[in-house]
Amino acid sequence: MKVIITGCKGQLGQELLRLAPPDIAITAVDIDTLDITDQVAVDNFVNELKPQLIINAAAYTAVDKAETNAEAAYAVNCDAVKIMAVAASQNSTSIIHISTDYVFDGSGCSPCQPDLPTNPASVYGQSKLAGEQELQRLMPGKSVIIRTAWLYSPYGQNFLKTMLRLMNERDELGIIADQIGTPTSAATLATTVWAFAKKPQLSGIFHWTDDGAASWYDFAAAIREESIAIGLLDSNAARLKPITTTDYPTPAPRPAYSILDKSSTYQALELTPINWRIALREVLKRIV
Ligand SMILES: NC(=O)c1ccc[n+]([C@@H]2O[C@H](COP(=O)([O-])OP(=O)(O)OC[C@H]3O[C@@H](n4cnc5c(N)ncnc54)[C@H](OP(=O)(O)O)[C@@H]3O)[C@@H](O)[C@H]2O)c1
Repeated sequence: MKVIITGCKGQLGQELLRLAPPDIAITAVDIDTLDITDQVAVDNFVNELKPQLIINAAAYTAVDKAETNAEAAYAVNCDAVKIMAVAASQNSTSIIHISTDYVFDGSGCSPCQPDLPTNPASVYGQSKLAGEQELQRLMPGKSVIIRTAWLYSPYGQNFLKTMLRLMNERDELGIIADQIGTPTSAATLATTVWAFAKKPQLSGIFHWTDDGAASWYDFAAAIREESIAIGLLDSNAARLKPITTTDYPTPAPRPAYSILDKSSTYQALELTPINWRIALREVLKRIV
């Protein structure tokens, strides 16, 4: 199977490359080789290669910057998705696209089903929802949208890497304890994306995160404890103090509750999820 991976230098992109099944012929691109907002370049690229599948791991992910840079966020998260959908449709290519828990407002208190009404509170969430809608409008039967949340990996910028740095530098850290989600390894997401790639008959919106629920405080505490256990942090690493969302204001509002219901994904792929803390251990072992 011929597959294009966009955003191959991002967290998910790098894990997709590392975990790719051997029988897949991958053409991996990022903004330096294929800017997905460039309609002519995307058309030419897809027409030339005629892949069976595009995995879109590219995105504008600067959540706070998006609040004042909506045009850039929409260009990558919505307009480029439309550009790829048009090119894919002309070549009978399927698309697997990644979206986010930020399409929900996070005001609920039970796991969000894929068909729960959306209501994004941030520009980033709005731009990602607009991208989902373009894909569903243009290729409803040939696209899979996987919403995920709280991604981390050994690559790029993410909460895990920020915590490891700050826990080394500071004596105490205040961490938000009133937002609940599921820390998700980009590696387990990549494995799930490849499982979808093997099932081209599937289409629609699915949810994927690792298993379980945690606050950012719980996630930070687990990072601290597991890292000390394997010698990645000293035992005098920064102490953690639970704080509230109002103690740490950000330009973009975050969902207070964003556990995603994954039942339809488990059923479709016959997958057994792993708990987020076990996935964290696997990633930390790769950082040591
Ligand atoms: N990170 C999270 O916590 C999180 C949570 C929920 C959902 N998601 C979604 O999961 C997916 C993967 O996220 P990630 O954390 O792996 O993202 P990431 O690390 O930010 O990677 C995105 C990649 O896309 C590239 N890119 C940006 N604009 C582009 C363009 N115009 N053309 C081509 N490539 C472009 C980026 O390049 P530059 O770095 O040079 O900009 C980067 O290499 C995204 O769809 C994201 O919205 C992420």
